[in-house]
Amino acid sequence: MDFEQVLSLRRSVRQFQNKEIPETLINKMVRAGECSPVGKADFSHYAIAVITDSDILSSLAAEDEKITGRGNPVFDAPLVFLIMSRDGALDDSIKLNAGIIAENIHLEATNLGLASVCVYSFIRNLKNRKEDSSWLPRMDLPKGYHPEFAVAVGYPATEIKERPCRARIPVFR
Ligand SMILES: Cc1cc2nc3c(=O)[nH]c(=O)nc-3n(C[C@H](O)[C@H](O)[C@H](O)COP(=O)(O)O)c2cc1C
Repeated sequence: MDFEQVLSLRRSVRQFQNKEIPETLINKMVRAGECSPVGKADFSHYAIAVITDSDILSSLAAEDEKITGRGNPVFDAPLVFLIMSRDGALDDSIKLNAGIIAENIHLEATNLGLASVCVYSFIRNLKNRKEDSSWLPRMDLPKGYHPEFAVAVGYPATEIKERPCRARIPVFR
């Protein structure tokens, strides 16, 4: 897809079909995340976890819904990428790096005709939580990794149409 088209199709989509994403497409989004820049080339302190296990996704949702009283933070998406930092990552740029990695994945999802949304809400709740998470240990991640940001991905429930890029951020020049 032409990059201009990716930009005009990109948006946060929160309604997905109940349909698995093929491994070939997951690999392309992983690769997009891996191709991100990271401040001071601190690549070894970041990782991407791929969650497709529906039991884990359900307990992630249930745990967060209990805290917020609101709906599923990842909107029943069949696939969630967790962007993680590792102990020792340079403090001042963790969120920046996680955001950039997520954006690469979000744009690649758009490029592949998929729907996606970057999500911080349940990560924030996870960070503020006193007790251990019920679902995170089930992912069997190596020690020392911490979720920083997420991208929920699925097939769009309705067709995504191109929209002109509206000027929503002031620009001074
Ligand atoms: C740092 C960041 C955190 C976000 N967190 C959430 C979130 O927790 N839940 C959600 O539904 N959308 C989240 N979004 C998506 C924004 O709400 C969305 O990008 C914004 O409303 C603009 O809409 P658009 O992406 O369709 O242009 C997040 C986006 C960013 C960049």
